[in-house]
Amino acid sequence: MKPVRKAVLPVAGLGTRVLPGAKTTPKEMLNVVDRPILSYIVAEGRAAGIEHFVFVTGRGKGAIEDYFDHHIEMESQLEAKGKTDILADIRSDLPKPGEMSFVRQMAPLGLGHAIWCARDIIGDEPFAIMLPDMLMHAPQRPALAQAMDAYSQVGGNIVVVEPAPEGEAHKYGIVALDGQDGRLNRMTGMVEKPAPGTEPSNLFISGRYILQPEIFKLLADQQKGAGGEIQLTDAMFRLMAIESFHALEYEGTTYDCGDKIGLLRANVAFALQREDLGAAARKAIMELLRI
Ligand code: UTP
Repeated sequence: MKPVRKAVLPVAGLGTRVLPGAKTTPKEMLNVVDRPILSYIVAEGRAAGIEHFVFVTGRGKGAIEDYFDHHIEMESQLEAKGKTDILADIRSDLPKPGEMSFVRQMAPLGLGHAIWCARDIIGDEPFAIMLPDMLMHAPQRPALAQAMDAYSQVGGNIVVVEPAPEGEAHKYGIVALDGQDGRLNRMTGMVEKPAPGTEPSNLFISGRYILQPEIFKLLADQQKGAGGEIQLTDAMFRLMAIESFHALEYEGTTYDCGDKIGLLRANVAFALQREDLGAAARKAIMELLRI
């Protein structure tokens, strides 16, 4: 079984659900408390053993490359003022030489197309996909690390899932399972945004995957699916005919930061969990709610 060393982070979407903010700030760079969402995602990947991050970027996403590079003037100012804690925090996000690649998706034709753009950098090895607007809080073990554990158990392709909120399954990619026994189950199908009442389960695909490189051959024909976009789910469904797929119901909570309320919830939840800010955040929320 080949190890999973690389992760693809597609960041070329328009982020229409969080406009107008996402017009000049990539949605993946919006702050949750005091750092961009991508900072949490890269930390999660590193904790799972990812050695190389491939960002699929697009027009207007230059802030992402700048974030993962030195800001010489700022760093020397912080150094001169003795603000060593902040300096160390800023530098903790910087990549090791060669740890990150950036490839351009020339038009946002869909998630499947974005992943296909990374094919040459990934090559012929299994790889992870991390959807950077899906922020996962998993205090016991980071979400992608849980997927890696499942991969070393059963190999093949792993899709991380979680129960959709009541009545919302039709908004997501939903998996069909060959029975449910524990958290790791063989998949028999998946469907993107099923019509209400036709969902094969309540488990939605929540934004972390481990896939075999054969997916690229299936993405190459650029078939359009739901919403006129080249969908990753469609290619995965075709790959399922020749390779095994397991769904892992991970332990943790997902915040959809590509959505206004999801982003707000992530900010509140992450602030409440912070040792340095939790008490003040709780006080501020109670004041706002006049509790
Ligand atoms: P979304 O489904 O959230 O799409 O993509 P979006 O276009 O960014 O957002 P809305 O729906 O317009 O609000 C999930 C992830 O895949 C990336 C996005 O940047 C996001 O991180 N993506 C999506 C691409 O990189 N390219 C695409 O063509 C589509």
